[in-house]
Amino acid sequence: MKTPIQFHLNGEEVAAFADGGANLLDVLREAVGDLSVKGGCWQGTCGTCTVLIDGRPRLSCVTLAEGCAGTSIETAAGLRRGADLHPLQTAFMERFAAQCGYCTPGMLMAAKALLDRNPRPTRENVLDAICGNICRCTGYEPIIAAILDLAGASGRRRA
Ligand code: FES
Ligand code: FES
Repeated sequence: MKTPIQFHLNGEEVAAFADGGANLLDVLREAVGDLSVKGGCWQGTCGTCTVLIDGRPRLSCVTLAEGCAGTSIETAAGLRRGADLHPLQTAFMERFAAQCGYCTPGMLMAAKALLDRNPRPTRENVLDAICGNICRCTGYEPIIAAILDLAGASGRRRA
């Protein structure tokens, strides 16, 4: 049986029908059409499905969709403002922090959650924030550098 749920997605009110027990990842992709949210493991172990729910990073593959009724959800699709990239997206681009790009939406959202609550994170803070997000391509350093760039904490920005 499908259950109607309503929530805000990237600032817009959204209504969708969710199968009983459906996870948020599948509802966002299949019922709402937000394909910026990626699935990797569907087991809560890779982080690529990370979205923000009421400002906190959550693994959408292991989040019950029905439990998200009335929440405010942010995904990578909501980062751009018109033609302008979000500063995090620009920093990732400048630092070549995306190669295949599969981890990138989850990385961006984990980084956004960090910077929203701590605009001046240390490298340790960044490592803590992205430690649940697996990247098979970059070796992580470009991603860490991009986040620190935005925080004004990297050597490049200090120079
Ligand atoms: S798809 Fe959710 S953690 Fe891997
Ligand atoms: S850029 Fe390929 S998995 Fe991270």
